Amino acid sequence: MSHIVNAYSRLLTSIVRGEGVYLFGKDGKKYLDFAAGISTASLGHCHPYVTGKLKEQLGSLWHCSNIFTIPEQERLAERLTALTFADKVFFCSSGLEATEAAIKFIRRYFYSQGQGRRNRIITIEGGFHGRSIAAISAGGNEKSREGFAPLLPGFDKVPRNDIKALEEKISDETAAVFLEPIQSEGGVYTLDVKYLQKVREITKAQGMILCFDEVQCGYGRIGSLFHYQNIGIEPDMLTCAKAIGNGFPLAACLVRDYIAEAITPGTHGSTYGGNPLAMTVGNAVLDVMLEEGFFGHVRRVSKCLKEKLLPLAEEFPEIISEIRGEGLLIGIELKVPFADKIVGQSLDKGLIMTRVLNNVVIRITPPLIVEDKHVSIACDILYKLFLKI
Ligand SMILES: Cc1ncc(COP(=O)(O)O)c(C=O)c1O
Repeated sequence: MSHIVNAYSRLLTSIVRGEGVYLFGKDGKKYLDFAAGISTASLGHCHPYVTGKLKEQLGSLWHCSNIFTIPEQERLAERLTALTFADKVFFCSSGLEATEAAIKFIRRYFYSQGQGRRNRIITIEGGFHGRSIAAISAGGNEKSREGFAPLLPGFDKVPRNDIKALEEKISDETAAVFLEPIQSEGGVYTLDVKYLQKVREITKAQGMILCFDEVQCGYGRIGSLFHYQNIGIEPDMLTCAKAIGNGFPLAACLVRDYIAEAITPGTHGSTYGGNPLAMTVGNAVLDVMLEEGFFGHVRRVSKCLKEKLLPLAEEFPEIISEIRGEGLLIGIELKVPFADKIVGQSLDKGLIMTRVLNNVVIRITPPLIVEDKHVSIACDILYKLFLKI
């Protein structure tokens, strides 16, 4: 009997080793990893360059309190701000912590402006921002909220892509809009670019903060460092995690200066945030992603994935209702809620994928280093499985 709290429906398979896009079970079985630890192992498993940098750092310093200047942290922040809209970065260890930072920074900014009443945040139905009380109050589905009352007040949810509903929710207490440009846990839904442009216009005109949660869709997955760069809509804040650390606990909240000014010593913090090990990994991941051709590769292989998946939808119209998503964040929506069955059978065949949206959507999020040949193997497995249904 396991002594682990039953928060996950775990598979009995134990994974003991990873190399590139492959994972290896205790029994020696080889798996093609099209989940990447849920969009996390961006450069694949045990990437030699990142692993080498981590090993070097392990021998010199693991941890150092944030009361000291941490050179690798300064360096990563400098690089991220040079590459984005942001002026400052707050480092933490998980997407959830980045969500907490974003919510607190938004509220604290308006407080610092003498507008403490302006503290409500508009979020989008189907969005997911983590599992703390604040994060499930902001997003998540009914299941993630059930039994955790009282939730936090201050969040107003509106339907996806409905600008009228969003405008109607805005009051003199509204501080910000916080959304995932591509909802992943919610079922792989891309928000319309025109909608996001309008949200940007409205938030700017009303002096509201626009914060993008790019914990899943950011950091290379859609073929640019951040997805906002693909669509040309700059937020005022952005949260990222997962791929930024290639599996090492690391996350960040990127902000513009005027918001960062509201955060003074003692107002926020994280013991492990920005620690030397995480920062070394973060810089190493960025070194690899900024190599010439990296994002071009992601875009090319994404195209190959879509080109191989779309014919499946045509061939099996009685099983698949839609293939959607962008880059290497793809959802296959089924007509019947049996994604668990397909995901389970594909695991038996050596392919790891995940499922979302009440068992209706199979989600594909391979490491960004995946190649066309791996895409072919995965699609072949899927084809054979669909053929048998
Ligand atoms: C969009 C988004 N935001 C936030 C989170 C929370 O991240 P973490 O699980 O690292 O706390 C997740 C996790 O899946 C996510 O997908």
